Amino acid sequence: MSKKLFLKVVTLMLAGMMLFSFVGCGKVDTMKKVKDSGKIILGTSADYPPYEFHKSINGKDEIIGFDISVAKEIAKDLGVEFEIKEMDFEGLLAALQTGKVDYVIAGMTPTEERMKQVDFTKIYYRAQQGIVVRTEDKDKIKSLEDLKSKKVGVQKGSTQEEIAKEQIKDAELKSLGKVSDLVLELKNKKVDAVVMELPVAAAYINKNQDIVISDIKVSDDVGGSAVAVAKDNSELVEAMNKTIDRITLDKSLERFVKEASDASIESN
Ligand code: ARG
Repeated sequence: MSKKLFLKVVTLMLAGMMLFSFVGCGKVDTMKKVKDSGKIILGTSADYPPYEFHKSINGKDEIIGFDISVAKEIAKDLGVEFEIKEMDFEGLLAALQTGKVDYVIAGMTPTEERMKQVDFTKIYYRAQQGIVVRTEDKDKIKSLEDLKSKKVGVQKGSTQEEIAKEQIKDAELKSLGKVSDLVLELKNKKVDAVVMELPVAAAYINKNQDIVISDIKVSDDVGGSAVAVAKDNSELVEAMNKTIDRITLDKSLERFVKEASDASIESN
């Protein structure tokens, strides 16, 4: 074999091995990626006030919310720039796994199923679930039985979808990509109820007089939000847990929640 050919073969083999180690086992060393590039990319679904939502600030459309504040604190502690990539909730985990985003903060509940696919930090915020109905139906739809043969809206790929499947047995489920669209469907009588986290319900009913939180109770075992990163990034998870501890202890997280809730109900 000529020297040139030999070099070519070796180069190809090395390239192949690198490709294999990257694609083959699908591991993303996020900490290294973030430190090398000097920035961290957040994946979120900004249809979830007060967690994350769009608001026009000084005539400019921005994504704000307490999740965004948490995300910025994490970036600050890591000493890197911060960038947002927005997408539908159901696409977030795949974006993490393929390295399109570095962390996901989207009111995401660390379920057993998701823990098999990604790593989670500790829970930074807890909330209960509620069912939103049209104001005119509040007295008619008061129990899970009242939802029989009714159309119930849930966000695609969310825990609410699971909760509805398990707890609202005889209803017809409609899964959509965005919570904002579910609210529109409810107002337009395309669905009769929507399952959502109570703080989110509170934000939406505040802006829409024609919908209210019903008296129906649904249970949620995990019921909290955590930060997700690609699997096997324990060093990064630990760093993020430290940030969560810091902002919990010094009460800035509490302030972020309050500020985001206020901003989500005041008019644009
Ligand atoms: N907590 C629910 C879940 O983890 C819903 C989260 C929806 N988040 C959002 N940004 N739309 O599935």
